[in-house]
Amino acid sequence: MNDDTNPLSLPPDEMRRLGYQVIDQIVDHFTNLKDKKVLNTFPHPEMSQIIKPDIPIEGQGPEKVFQHLKTDIFAHTLHSDHPRTFAFIPAASNYISVLADALAAGHNVFSGHWMSAASAAQVETVTIDWLKECCGFPVRAGGIFVSGGSTANLMAVATAKKSKIDNRKNGVVYFSQQTHSSVSKALRILGFHSHQMRAIPVDDQFRMQTDDLVFHIQKDKKEGREPFCIIGNAGTTNTGAIDPLPVIAEIARRFNMWFHIDGAYGAAAVLTEKGKKLLTGLELADSLTLDPHKWWFQPYEIGCLLVREKSHLKETFHVSAEYLVNPDDRIEKEINYYDYGIQLTRSFRALKLYTSLKVFGLDNFKKAVERGIEAAEYIEQLLRQKEGWKIVTPAQLGILNVVYQPTGVGDQKADALAKTISTKISEEGYAFILTTVLNGRTVLRMCPIHPGLTKEEIQIIIDQMDTIAQSLV
Ligand SMILES: Cc1ncc(COP(=O)(O)O)c(C=O)c1O
Repeated sequence: MNDDTNPLSLPPDEMRRLGYQVIDQIVDHFTNLKDKKVLNTFPHPEMSQIIKPDIPIEGQGPEKVFQHLKTDIFAHTLHSDHPRTFAFIPAASNYISVLADALAAGHNVFSGHWMSAASAAQVETVTIDWLKECCGFPVRAGGIFVSGGSTANLMAVATAKKSKIDNRKNGVVYFSQQTHSSVSKALRILGFHSHQMRAIPVDDQFRMQTDDLVFHIQKDKKEGREPFCIIGNAGTTNTGAIDPLPVIAEIARRFNMWFHIDGAYGAAAVLTEKGKKLLTGLELADSLTLDPHKWWFQPYEIGCLLVREKSHLKETFHVSAEYLVNPDDRIEKEINYYDYGIQLTRSFRALKLYTSLKVFGLDNFKKAVERGIEAAEYIEQLLRQKEGWKIVTPAQLGILNVVYQPTGVGDQKADALAKTISTKISEEGYAFILTTVLNGRTVLRMCPIHPGLTKEEIQIIIDQMDTIAQSLV
């Protein structure tokens, strides 16, 4: 080894210049987003011409590469943070969290270990405590930040299994037919087979039918299986439906089962008066998935799992290793987060939520969530006044589903219309709306939860939808 300079370093002035350039680009993104097309996707042949597979043996220098990022990479994505993205779960981010994320990456904080970053562990604990308080969880509860809702759901089932059953072969898990696909994926990863998963039917409002739930639990018990976990929804992805959480909590208690709630989408509504009432029972869960990169306005990736008894996480995820000796291991409050989850090396995810909550305050988060709930209600109100439009599921927790079906148009034709309207809207690029399927019918699903969306924009979108729909019939 000789003493040449680090081949991966840059002089400070160059670092600053590039940094300012990047910040300018991000600020432009935040301020000019509304003028941009929402969906900017490209077919593979063209994309493979722009982003080439050759390994860059020799560096091309930052100027060229950063220009490539700007014009080729960031110009060809869906703006899931666009105020007029109504598809999937839109991901309105916020600038403060982006800066906090940059700081966390810049300092490359290792968030696995108290010894490595006591401050990061304390920030995570405090931020988890805030979420616990918002959701009505007891002081003894704990939690951890993870990559997203899928990982949180996976960890919840792993924790339920560890806590409730010895033998995975006999265990059965129950959830409604409207439950997010990440739950069955989690079960599959954990080695459960389809005969150990019970998708319980839903009522006409897409909520779990608890009579069916009890029926299946009793039947499985009689047949020698071990029902050990029920998963309820606090806001389904399709319709925003909330399962009857207090009833499910009582059933879980009666049968000594773990009660997990998937609140990845909807739990944030607990910040609002309306949402708090709708989400009664959230506080009864043994574990709860939240997803700050959804309705808590954080940039990807940050999900969260809360557990009623913190010790359950440690019992599930702690593994000893001689190289992980920590002098403070026995001090309960000095948490090593790697003992509470899957990752050993972890980024400092908590920082963005912590910082944005401190900068804006919980009241402003509450107002931002309220805007999404009201936007969906406003869309419903406008569409009810337009001829031919039917509300399939009314605005609930910021989601509604609609079809265009004027008199004389059959179901099949209306299904096809929903698809065509979605495609045409997306092609025009002012808004992005996709379809889903409910009770076998294709419907337009709208999730208008970006707090920057205005009434005027909503009116334009509704007029656009109506014009397209009429032109098709
Ligand atoms: C209700 C629900 N649960 C879980 C998930 C999975 O979360 P993630 O995409 O953060 O992994 C989603 C994602 O949309 C969701 O809507």
